[in-house]
Amino acid sequence: MEMETENENKTTEETLLKEGDLISVQKNDNGRVYFATINNTEDTVTNQIPLDVRKNAFDKGKTILYENNDYHLVDNNYVAQIPETQIFDMNFVHNSYKYKPKYLFINELKWKYLIRNVLQGENILMLGPSGSGKTLAANSIAKTLKRPFFRIPTGQTQDPRATLIGNTFFSKDKGTFFDQSLFVKAIQTDNAIILLDELSRAHPEAWNILMTVLDQDQRYLRLDEAEGQPTINVAKGVSFIGTANIGAEYTSTRVLDRALRDRFKSIEMDLLTEKEEIELLTLLYPDLDKKTIKSIAGIADETRKIMQNESPEISTSISTRMTVDMGKILNDDFALMEALEVCVLPFYDIAGGETSEREFIKTLIQKHIPHDDDDKDLFKSKEKDTKLSEGNPFEK
Ligand SMILES: Nc1ncnc2c1ncn2[C@@H]1O[C@H](COP(=O)(O)OP(=O)(O)O)[C@@H](O)[C@H]1O
Ligand SMILES: [Mg+2]
Repeated sequence: MEMETENENKTTEETLLKEGDLISVQKNDNGRVYFATINNTEDTVTNQIPLDVRKNAFDKGKTILYENNDYHLVDNNYVAQIPETQIFDMNFVHNSYKYKPKYLFINELKWKYLIRNVLQGENILMLGPSGSGKTLAANSIAKTLKRPFFRIPTGQTQDPRATLIGNTFFSKDKGTFFDQSLFVKAIQTDNAIILLDELSRAHPEAWNILMTVLDQDQRYLRLDEAEGQPTINVAKGVSFIGTANIGAEYTSTRVLDRALRDRFKSIEMDLLTEKEEIELLTLLYPDLDKKTIKSIAGIADETRKIMQNESPEISTSISTRMTVDMGKILNDDFALMEALEVCVLPFYDIAGGETSEREFIKTLIQKHIPHDDDDKDLFKSKEKDTKLSEGNPFEK
């Protein structure tokens, strides 16, 4: 190990960088990695640098340069002169699972792959049914990497041009002027993570606009409407995360265009296991009764298993979003059956009467709730609802 030896400062306990103190990692265009000693306790990579190296750098107020498999000390301003591209370090990626927020459930490989893709500037497409944590995962990655985060609701807009580019206005004082979209601001923000939420539901016009933006060889946005400024380049370090609802809900969304799909690395969200669902609900709602949590997790899990059958009796499973929503209202002192009634039943169609999805899910639920045999129907507003909505008196 090569170290500068001038300036033999005495090292005291106080001057030691503790594990967890910050070192920032930077890579320049040549792929060299720099560790800068800055004081911030939320650091992520400090532990990988030998303590004596950190001690030495800290004492001398210098920055650690990792090059040719060795650590060297350089001036802090040396690092500042280097154009920072991506903050990237393989060690960090492989150790990154411990920085995953506890409240997000995603397996280690997928988390690491997400981090890796963001750091390498790859576009990512999160796939999974509604309420499976796609948006939450994108948000968590941005928080963990401390990146500027922008959420663009691409699926909700009727006017893709306004959402992705902006609006042109005319006023008497200013004449014609251009009001740029949040997206335009986002792509010009270094190292931003841009969530293209519900991309699978977006208007094909939105896909067209995004095509050049997402293309690694183009990376620009064409502004047809702004005069004199036809394109805007995507800033360095920006990465795009799209989300697409797949699964039973897929039929209601447009199939994502193949050319667009090819511009992404896909990551499929896994549904939580029964055990994980219990863990999550216990973590979020520690005051809830264990049995209640177990019932909810059991019911959700059964619907997820049914959905894997060849011809499932229901068209959608109970998502983690739905179980978390139930937890919320149970926390507000609603009863379990009430929570199930308002959070779950509306997702299941009443069409078909006795053989409807609604009846099927009710029976499934009752199997998981402890009750005496006399108590045939645990739902308070039982048959009445069904009858009413089957022949709605207000429609006549
Ligand atoms: N994998 C998961 N881990 C933890 N919480 C989850 C997960 N999936 C869903 N949730 C809960 O459901 C809510 C909605 O999830 P979200 O990320 O918006 O789903 P999606 O974007 O896939 O429709 C989250 O805020 C969280 O409370
Ligand atoms: Mg979402």
